[in-house]
Amino acid sequence: MSSSSFKDKVFIVTGASTGIGRATARALAAAGARVVLAARSEEALAQLAAELGGAERALAVPTDVSDSDQCQRLIEDALAHFGQLDGLVNNAGMVVSGYFEHLQPGDMAYQFAVNYMGVVYCTQAALPHLKQSRGVIVNVSSVAGLIGTPSAVAYSASKAALNALGRALWAELRPYGVGVVTVCPYFTSGVELGRKAIKRGDSLHGGAKGAARVAPGTQTAEQVAAAIVKAAARRPRLVVLSPIGRLIWRLDRALPGLVDWVMVKGLSRRRL
Ligand SMILES: NC(=O)c1ccc[n+]([C@@H]2O[C@H](COP(=O)([O-])OP(=O)(O)OC[C@H]3O[C@@H](n4cnc5c(N)ncnc54)[C@H](OP(=O)(O)O)[C@@H]3O)[C@@H](O)[C@H]2O)c1
Repeated sequence: MSSSSFKDKVFIVTGASTGIGRATARALAAAGARVVLAARSEEALAQLAAELGGAERALAVPTDVSDSDQCQRLIEDALAHFGQLDGLVNNAGMVVSGYFEHLQPGDMAYQFAVNYMGVVYCTQAALPHLKQSRGVIVNVSSVAGLIGTPSAVAYSASKAALNALGRALWAELRPYGVGVVTVCPYFTSGVELGRKAIKRGDSLHGGAKGAARVAPGTQTAEQVAAAIVKAAARRPRLVVLSPIGRLIWRLDRALPGLVDWVMVKGLSRRRL
């Protein structure tokens, strides 16, 4: 599939109410695709569906991806409305922010329920239809899943699991002509992720200081969306975003001890 052949293809985008998902839905629609918008915020989805051309071009399906029945219904509604499915962008996600010792019972399970099981539920329900269309699955992961991120340990672990899922599925589904791409954004602006984070105690992420500071290498949601659309067309196995994100990823593979040392040093300076 090339991005010029997105015309009238049908893509589901989860987490489409804000941030990267909303920008991705807009970018796919601009490339000619019809889009199914999923998230929990009904009003935001309805507004976006209207903006993207109404019922003929966009369908809003309020969905909590941590609920397998709702994911099944999302796929059924998409099929009933548009009659085909060519792509699934598993983008919905949230952050439980805080040191491991401060996490409350249920935090880790909830983090995985949204960021990992949400992808599993949507992908399992969509797979028969994507095999039929030889379509594509794009999982929006994170650089945090390529390296261990202190004080965002639950998030980091959920994205690492997603990376392993994507890698295994890439091989498993290749003989069927179904593409599986893992996109790992670095810090991204124009999103709600930090503001909506569940915060436990002290954290390097998502706090007032974190929100005010723009890390070098930060990309806009629109830049990340453009990379997702390109990835859906070209279907590489893994895309690591932003020059700084790629530098960290390459350094970690070449000199893992260095990245670990920087983590420990940075952490102990802020915490002790
Ligand atoms: N921002 C970054 O720096 C960054 C970096 C790397 C990776 N990412 C990843 O990018 C993806 C998009 O995040 P974002 O940065 O664009 O943040 P965002 O603006 O907070 O978007 C998150 C989206 O996920 C949806 N969502 C959250 N929980 C959900 C649930 N249980 N069921 C269905 N939808 C749910 C939210 O909508 P509702 O609240 O309406 O449900 C929203 O549409 C996430 O997977 C995130 O981990 C972000």
